[in-house]
Amino acid sequence: MRIFVDSADVEEIKKLYEMGFVSGATTNPSLVAKTGRDPREIYRELAEMLEHVSAEVVAEDADGMYKEGKDLASIHPNIVVKIPFTPEGLKAVRRLKGDGIRVNVTLIFSAAQALIAARVGADFVSPFIGRIDDIGYSGVEVVRETAKIFALYDIPTQIIAASIRHPAHFIAAAKSGAHIGTVPPAVLWKLLKHPLTDIGLEKFLSDWRKVQESLSK
Ligand code: E4P
Repeated sequence: MRIFVDSADVEEIKKLYEMGFVSGATTNPSLVAKTGRDPREIYRELAEMLEHVSAEVVAEDADGMYKEGKDLASIHPNIVVKIPFTPEGLKAVRRLKGDGIRVNVTLIFSAAQALIAARVGADFVSPFIGRIDDIGYSGVEVVRETAKIFALYDIPTQIIAASIRHPAHFIAAAKSGAHIGTVPPAVLWKLLKHPLTDIGLEKFLSDWRKVQESLSK
């Protein structure tokens, strides 16, 4: 599973990117709103750093989404246009794909929606694990079913496990066949931390200091 950052905070994403395990970022209108910044600037800065930056349209009709998608894609070749799974959205996906633009279909809550989006030509589908769990179903199960269906029919669409809320979601998404996990910075920082790593390092360094001390006697 490849690892993306689920954020529009360029500085925070940069800190994680510098460690070398992040290859993309997914944004959405709520994440962009939190930054208070011009969305185009955010998308451009991220796309100069990362091979995949999902940028979401906010129009609700197919024509509007298509025009907005074309405009977003023109910012940088690494921009992937994010389109919500609605009947109008699917029409826009079809047209954008006709123009060779990469598309991520978002707000996916079932394997059926994922299969339909894939059949329209989506390059990526984003099932929302946490939000499915919130209504009493298993988000990870939706990822597992989707991965199974895509494998059965050799469907090249990639699954981006989204709405990851905690470290256990991350591992479960990876085991369920998601190609990509998009993870909020706070969860990634938790994944980077392990108490046994800290204790082990402390012990190694204190033993090493003893070696230095005995050599200097
Ligand atoms: C990413 O593509 C989604 O927009 C995001 O993961 C949604 O996460 P949330 O359900 O925590 O808002």
